[in-house]
Amino acid sequence: MTSPTDYRFLKACRGEPVDATPVWFMRQAGRYMKEYRALKEKYSFLEMCQTPELATEVTLQPLKPLGVDAAIIFADILLPLEPMGTGLEFIKGDGPSIPRPVRTRKDVENLRPVNSEEQLGYVGQAIKLVRQEIEGKIPLVGFAAAPFTLCSYMVEGGKSSEFKITKLLMYEEPETWKLLMEKVSTVLIDYLKMQVAAGAQALQIFDSWIGCVTPEDYREYILPYCQKVMNALKDLDVPVINFSTGTSSMLDVIAQAGGDVMSFDWRINIDQARDVIGWDKPVQGNMDPVVLFAPIPVIKKRVNDIMQRVGGKPGHIFNLGHGILQHTPVDHVKAVVDMVREYKHGG
Ligand code: CP3
Repeated sequence: MTSPTDYRFLKACRGEPVDATPVWFMRQAGRYMKEYRALKEKYSFLEMCQTPELATEVTLQPLKPLGVDAAIIFADILLPLEPMGTGLEFIKGDGPSIPRPVRTRKDVENLRPVNSEEQLGYVGQAIKLVRQEIEGKIPLVGFAAAPFTLCSYMVEGGKSSEFKITKLLMYEEPETWKLLMEKVSTVLIDYLKMQVAAGAQALQIFDSWIGCVTPEDYREYILPYCQKVMNALKDLDVPVINFSTGTSSMLDVIAQAGGDVMSFDWRINIDQARDVIGWDKPVQGNMDPVVLFAPIPVIKKRVNDIMQRVGGKPGHIFNLGHGILQHTPVDHVKAVVDMVREYKHGG
């Protein structure tokens, strides 16, 4: 039994020295695993998220085979959309779809407040069940979207490449945009607090698509709401990971949002990123998920390169720069865990 204060992952989040670099993966549960695909034959993705016993089973699936240092609750950043009233569907092969997108002042005004305990309580239930299973072994990470990323789905009605409708709402109707961000931030804070009350021991805030805006737009239209969410989580006494992709050129601005750990993608070397945000700030990352498809010697070279750039300085959590992709070979993922764990600095 390891005491929660001694979990490698949580120590690294606090910038404390560790016996080995902690390693886990975003989307470590999912379609690349046969156990997940088998369950998916019987249940839809939303059913799996909304049934605590199934969400627990999926959360646990990768833990033993991979030997990772953290679990992440099986859920989705879009789940709060259902109680907010926009609807939410996952269409096979096409990803998420929001039947009633939010595009006008009236749409924003009509969004419903959310009581997470009541309306998203199934996530809390799953968190409680997972904690019972992993107690004394590894910690459990809870998560939500950051305000922009969630709003982008609400406004676009699904995934987007240009985020044109979202940006135009920002530019043409800044007051409507601000009301939307305000409402979404309030929901996210309540949802994240509920997860910690249920037993989440760290939180990750996914600003997956924020890399599409300019630094100045970020400052004006987005940063205040990210800060609001991060500030509201300060009293909870759990580390918060500020995750984004495509933000290599604006990490200094993203860091102003707050969070205990900064997580970024592979478009910047990890030591250069630490030069920008300061080496005292714990970091998570940052291997390209596609490298996991490469031959083992190539993977090893990339893992070693990241480890070497960090140079054994405290406050590093090994992860990818984004989630594990479909069809990724499971044995390659496991190999990365072993490589990180066995890595000797200066050796
Ligand atoms: O990391 C984990 O293991 C926890 C589970 C998790 C899922 N989604 C499960 C999932 C997490 C942390 C997320 C977050 C999430 N969801 C994000 C942020 C992270 C990121 O990737 O940037 C985003 C943008 C979403 C929205 C979302 N959910 C999309 C775009 C899709 C479809 C993409 C795809 O791969 O088809 C989903 C569905 C989804 N969420 C799946 C899983 C395992 C696939 C569902 C399936 O078909 O089985």
